[in-house]
Formats: sequence, structure tokens, C-alpha cells
Amino acid sequence: MHLELKGINKHFGPVHANKDIDLTIESGTIHGLLGENGAGKSTLMKVLSGFIHRDSGEILLDGQAVEFKSPAQAIRAGVGMLHQDPLDFPPLRVIDNFLLGREDGLMQNRARATADLKKYSAQFGFDIDPDALVSSLTVGERQQLEIMRLLSLGAKILIFDEPTTGISLPQKIKLFETLRLLCEQGMTVIFVTHKLQDAEDLCDQVTVLRLGQVVGEIARPFTADQLVKLMFGQALAASTREQIKLGEPVLDLRNITVADYRLRVPDINLQVCAGEVIGLAGIEGSGQRLLLRACAGLDKPVAGEIWIGGTKMNQQPYSRFLDRGVSYLPAARLEEGLVPGLDLTEHFILARRTPEFFIDWKAATSNAQLRIKEYSIRGTPSTHVESLSGGNQQRALLALLYPNIDLLLLEHPTRGLDIESTMWVWKQLLERRKQGTAIIFSSADLDEIFEYSDRILVFSGGRVAKALRASETSVAQLGELIGGKGLEVGN
Ligand SMILES: Nc1ncnc2c1ncn2[C@@H]1O[C@H](COP(=O)(O)OP(=O)(O)OP(=O)(O)O)[C@@H](O)[C@H]1O
Ligand SMILES: [Mg+2]
Repeated sequence: MHLELKGINKHFGPVHANKDIDLTIESGTIHGLLGENGAGKSTLMKVLSGFIHRDSGEILLDGQAVEFKSPAQAIRAGVGMLHQDPLDFPPLRVIDNFLLGREDGLMQNRARATADLKKYSAQFGFDIDPDALVSSLTVGERQQLEIMRLLSLGAKILIFDEPTTGISLPQKIKLFETLRLLCEQGMTVIFVTHKLQDAEDLCDQVTVLRLGQVVGEIARPFTADQLVKLMFGQALAASTREQIKLGEPVLDLRNITVADYRLRVPDINLQVCAGEVIGLAGIEGSGQRLLLRACAGLDKPVAGEIWIGGTKMNQQPYSRFLDRGVSYLPAARLEEGLVPGLDLTEHFILARRTPEFFIDWKAATSNAQLRIKEYSIRGTPSTHVESLSGGNQQRALLALLYPNIDLLLLEHPTRGLDIESTMWVWKQLLERRKQGTAIIFSSADLDEIFEYSDRILVFSGGRVAKALRASETSVAQLGELIGGKGLEVGN
């Protein structure tokens, strides 16, 4: 199916998210869509898949102008989209999710649907139990389910909006295999990403957006460097990490066990000094979040002792952890970190350590203005946080942190951010480290773990390996540990 977008425009209030965008995509190819945070990628893809209405422009499928008033119409014409945030229904069973959107309504033939699901599973080598609850699937499996659902609805053009955020390396390899297979079968894949390496490995062509406009197109063979130049207009200087002298111990974990209803990770021992950076590696959901939350005082460890700056903290409430200079930045920026519905000024007021009874709004607004400038947030004091792009939400979160922090706990600090924002975030973090802040962060990106950690803690299958020195560890060693090798009981 030959796809052509002509002169697409879309405004959100004053924001011109898509400006006269022209894009042509041949069938049977993988087409990359790249661009910094807020460039307009998701907007363009939602226009194409009927989730939002464009202000002007044309969509042509095989030369025919089409008009999608809803995602259902788009999928009937063969265009389906996997969103940045999954749109499935976790409380439902796999098979019921698979049935969503079918024409035959509620009285569906489950036997036939099950057979369909089996057929697609066999075709792609997926292994998903039709009767499992969607909530029990990994992010990668939920993607697989969504791919099969869209195919069963007749999708010929499949749009993937940042599908490699939040999945493990084996799942990514599987996903790429699937995408190549889809292409061989004549499907068109549009692949939205920030990861240049992924684009280089996978895409036949790449289109780059900046500030809502197409700024470049390039066809294979191309290199990641060429993409960086197209995206940012220049090559980015590699960040330099100074060696610093570590200070006194800030955090001491003595044989702690962290657990929730489905996972228990025993015997974690770790001492972290001022100015030290610890990276938490491992497949998503292996206990990294549990450890971060325990260190933040949000969940209590079920055994062992947590010492912060010489005080045992086990029974202390979260507020005492704050008093001790501990800060936690969650991965779910909008659900846990920020308050949707409130604007930036209101956030800065809420984040004050010593609340005042009366709010001086004028002063608060000019303070917000200052922070927005300092942290290069694309927004104004009255911008609601939910309308900021992902990268700008992360900048806002960092702007809300107190100046003097002894221990900073970060869950996926750069997930979903473009390279420039990622480097910006780390510049801020390394600056804090220079002031003596100890940092513990989790990441699914091994390059990030290696680049910024002094020591690495690997989580796998309910166990944690002894902290490794990043400078003395190879990618292969880390990969083996993440896969569970050498992490048997007693290690
Ligand atoms: N529903 C909305 N209401 C208001 N503004 C929006 C809305 N959706 C997007 N925008 C704005 O449109 C611009 C483009 O956003 P879009 O989500 O398309 O960017 P993106 O390229 O997908 O970014 P990211 O890489 O962070 O996902 C941004 O400035 C964003 O704040
Ligand atoms: Mg997006």
C-alpha cells in the first residue's frame, strides 16, 4: 500500500505541531520517523491513524484520498497504530483484548478468534496464552498482542510509536525480527524512535522532523552521525565525566530484602558514598524499582537495615527521608511525579519545603519564569504539565528538586528523551554529583549504565549480584549477569 501525506497541518492552540508536512512511504519498507522531543512525530502519526483530526492537508492511500474520522475507520482502510503508551485493557483476558474492535460486535466467535490468535502466534513465533490476563504480560508481549490484533483487523500499514522504550534486549531483537517479517509480507512499517542505533539497524528510509517540520530525509545506507546532524543541525559533543574524589558514606544497605506481592529480592548489601553513581541494570521489573523506593522511604524493606548518614531509617516515615536529604524521581512522570491539571507555577509553589500561608502569586510567577529559563523548559508559568512533551516534563521534575540533596534516586531518568535532552539531564546530574550528591539510577539502556555509573548492581531472577566496577566490567559480562548466568544462589 503506497502512502502519501501532503501538506499536513495541525495546531494545538498556539502550538503549530505539524507544519505543511509531506511524506511518501513505499509499501514493503520500514520507514523511520525521528526528531527531538516535541517535534510532532506522535501528532503526525495520530493524524494518519485517525486519532486526531488535522487542520488541513491530504492523506492518499494508493493514490486515493482518504478521510479518517476515527481509528476504527483508519484500521478498516488498513492503517493501525501501536501507541507510545499501550491502549490495551489490562483487566481483560488476552483473547478478549484480541477481539476488541471487530465488526461482529459482542456476539463474537471466540473459537474462531482463538484459532486466529494461534495462527498469528505460530507465524511470528509468539508465545502468549489466550486465557492469561493482559496485566500479567510484559510490555513486549502486550506489543505482540497488539500487533496481532491490528493484523487481524486488516492493517497493512503499522505504525510503532517508540516501541523499544521499556522492553528488554531479547524482546527488542524479537520485535525487530517481527517487523522485518511484516515487511517481507508486503506490510509497511513506520517506526518512530529516538534511538539512532535502532534506526540505523532497522530502517530503509528515515524522515527527520524538527519543530513540526520535515528537515531531512535519508535512505539506507546512512550512519547514526548523519542522523544526529539532521536532527540537531550539528554533531553533539560527547559528554565528559570528570573523576571526582568520593566523600563519606551516605547510604548503607545491610542485608536488606525488598519485596512486593510478586517478587522478593533478598540480601542486598551496598554502601554508597557522596559523589558516587550507582547504576541498576536488569530486565524491567527485576526489583530495581523496589530498591529505589525502599531507599526513598516509600516502601519498607521486609528485612535488613537501611542506614542513611549514620542513622538507622527502617521505621522512619518518608518525610524523615526527605529531611535527611533523600529525593526520588519516579519513571511515571505524569502519574507519580507531577500533578496533571496544575500549571508550572503551582508546581513550584507545591514543591516548597516551607509552605507559606499566603501565596504571593506575582513572586511565584516570576520565580517560575526564572526556573523555566534556567532549565530550558519549553512552556510558560501557566502551562499545564500534561501538555508539556516528555522531555520537558523531565526538565520540570529536575527543576523541582531541592538544591542540596545527599542521595538522589532516579528511575529511568532519561526514558523517552531525545539525545540532546538526555545529555542535558546528565549534565545537571553530574553537576549535582560534583557537589557531593550520591546518585542511584535504573535504566534499560546499557550504554547509559556504563557511561555514567561508577558501580553497577545487576538484578536478575530475584537476585542481585555484588556491585561491579563499571570500568572493570565488559558489556558481555553484564549481559550474562542480566540473563541470570553467575547469579545462582550464594553468589
Ligand atoms: N493534546 C495536546 N494538547 C496540546 N498540545 C499538544 C497535544 N499533543 C501534543 N501537543 C504539543 O504538540 C507538540 C508536538 O507534540 P508530539 O507529542 O507530537 O511530539 P513528539 O515528537 O511525539 O515528542 P516525544 O518525542 O516527546 O514523544 C508539542 O509541543 C506538544 O506539547
Ligand atoms: Mg511522541
